Amino acid sequence: MTTPLISLVWTDHVTGRQGFLVVDRLVRGVASGGLRMRPGCTSAEVAGLARGMTMKEALHYDPAGRYIPLGGAKGGIDCDPRDPGAYGLLVRYLRAMRPYIESCWATGEDLGLSQDLVDRAAAEAGLVSSIQAVYPLLDDEPAARRRLADAFAVEVDGIGLDELAGGCGVAESVLAALDRAAVPYAGTRVAVQGLGTMGGATARFLARAGLTVVAVADLKGTIANPAGLDVEALLAARDGHGTVDRGVLRPEDRELPGDAWLSVRAEVLVPAAVSYVIDSTNQERIRARWIVEAANMPVVPGAEAPLAARGVTVLPDVVVNSGTNAWWWWTLFGDVGADADEAFTHIRRSMRALVGLMLDRAEADGTTPRAAAHALVTERLPVIADRFGWYR
Ligand SMILES: NC(=O)c1ccc[n+]([C@@H]2O[C@H](COP(=O)([O-])OP(=O)(O)OC[C@H]3O[C@@H](n4cnc5c(N)ncnc54)[C@H](O)[C@@H]3O)[C@@H](O)[C@H]2O)c1
Repeated sequence: MTTPLISLVWTDHVTGRQGFLVVDRLVRGVASGGLRMRPGCTSAEVAGLARGMTMKEALHYDPAGRYIPLGGAKGGIDCDPRDPGAYGLLVRYLRAMRPYIESCWATGEDLGLSQDLVDRAAAEAGLVSSIQAVYPLLDDEPAARRRLADAFAVEVDGIGLDELAGGCGVAESVLAALDRAAVPYAGTRVAVQGLGTMGGATARFLARAGLTVVAVADLKGTIANPAGLDVEALLAARDGHGTVDRGVLRPEDRELPGDAWLSVRAEVLVPAAVSYVIDSTNQERIRARWIVEAANMPVVPGAEAPLAARGVTVLPDVVVNSGTNAWWWWTLFGDVGADADEAFTHIRRSMRALVGLMLDRAEADGTTPRAAAHALVTERLPVIADRFGWYR
């Protein structure tokens, strides 16, 4: 792993809590990457996530597109997002990070934070926008900002387009893997950890494609039903942190412990919550054929080899969950308009192409999909650096 360009630790003068910013790489002077808030967040975690953002940007490099890649970055704050002091802490963190956000770090929501909350806190911290560092790269800034604002106002059946884009990409990755293995959607069972932005949208798209969502886990535990959960009812019963009100469960739905989602009978597991959740010990309990990483870094490196040896394929985060980040930039730079169907079509086409490229490469090299994705990144980064330099 290369050393990041910028890595800093911030200490809040009010609470003593810490926040982190890692800029892994700048391309055209800017890096892209969300901000997460979770208790126990560390600098090393944020560095890994920032590196992942560099990879996601590189993987979506299309020399013919209007959006051409940025570098990768990530922010993190060590706090429970449900803590009453969390919002004030977020505002103070953003104030401290203002010079970076104004000049080189385009950020947005990640685990524990919604985009609405980031936007509100950014305004209170005196920022024009959480992504203002990108504005100098736009041809027609007012039109681009209007397009993105219009896209954020689009809702599909009660969920904002911005909250659906990432899950659309995750779901399409699952469907691409099933198609490749000639496995029909009907009868294929899915278990999802996390029913927030990523998990919620992924569950919706997969249920609508005909798969059966048999388990979802949130902070309160696992909800399961081997015959299939009513995904839309669960989505509508979420609070602002992605926790489902158990009052909507049907008599046949069961409440199980928090880690039960891991070992339910399902062909596809979608970790869509926290990092480091599948390790070398608990991987033994997994009976699924695919693990599709909607979350960032949910599978620890030590679990990958035993999983592969048992025939479990891990589709890696840097490919699978890259749709959100790419959608922001496709919209802002003008590759897609503020329209849900246009956005979903573009995301689906791009994700299928990327998953296909990765799986072809894995087959050719005899490696895991993750190693194949990393090999693709290793080839692309010098091409990007040749074209744009390191800082320009
Ligand atoms: N939001 C994005 O745009 C985006 C994009 C790419 C990747 N990701 C990644 O996806 C993951 C989820 O992000 P999000 O934005 O959907 O988060 P979120 O805050 O919207 O939702 C998190 C969900 O996970 C559940 N959860 C949290 N901790 C849990 C635990 N220990 N056990 C079980 N469930 C738990 C919460 O109850 C909630 O349902 C993160 O790893 C994030 O980095 C997010």
